Amino acid sequence: MKIRTATPDDIPFLLQLEHDSTTAAHWTLQQYTNLFRDGAAAHRLVLLAETEDVPLGFLVAQHIASEWELENIVVSSTERRKGFGARLLRALLDTASQSASESVFLEVRESNLPARRFYEKTGFQQAGVRKGYYRDPPEDAILYRLDIRKPIQT
Ligand SMILES: CC(C)(COP(=O)(O)OP(=O)(O)OC[C@H]1O[C@@H](n2cnc3c(N)ncnc32)[C@H](O)[C@@H]1OP(=O)(O)O)[C@@H](O)C(=O)NCCC(=O)NCCS
Repeated sequence: MKIRTATPDDIPFLLQLEHDSTTAAHWTLQQYTNLFRDGAAAHRLVLLAETEDVPLGFLVAQHIASEWELENIVVSSTERRKGFGARLLRALLDTASQSASESVFLEVRESNLPARRFYEKTGFQQAGVRKGYYRDPPEDAILYRLDIRKPIQT
């Protein structure tokens, strides 16, 4: 498995994968296209995991001042629990650590227990609740944060 920076040619795969995953963040084609525009690309990280050119998963993150926000991470439903998500997340944490940032944060649906266990395993800690953050269906978001100035668990 290798991880590489995604390109606009990967957008159809990104869309297909998140459409197949009910708990992923859902964006439009236009929103994915905007990720690769000059102004946005400078502070965005879009990573693709693939084996022999077959995409397995992806991650989107945004660099905001001294923080990184993990905006989406999805692994194909047939490829989960094989460590691919952890390797994508590790690649983000490596980039964040090299950018003199202080922390990585994310929001996740309260009911998305697989993702919450996944983040907690990496050392993310609950940092708050955003009431009614999600729609369709409405749900609270749990805010998680990882201080990357401390040694990170593997
Ligand atoms: C969250 C997600 C990206 C994890 O990817 P993954 O490749 O399956 O995760 P990994 O195999 O790297 O798991 C690493 C660890 O996370 C934890 N974990 C992952 N999935 C879990 C689950 N379903 N239940 C409990 N713990 C889980 C485990 O501790 C696991 O280690 P282990 O397998 O040795 O026990 C994947 O489940 C996914 O794509 N979910 C749908 C999209 C989504 O909800 N994204 C999050 C949006 S905020």
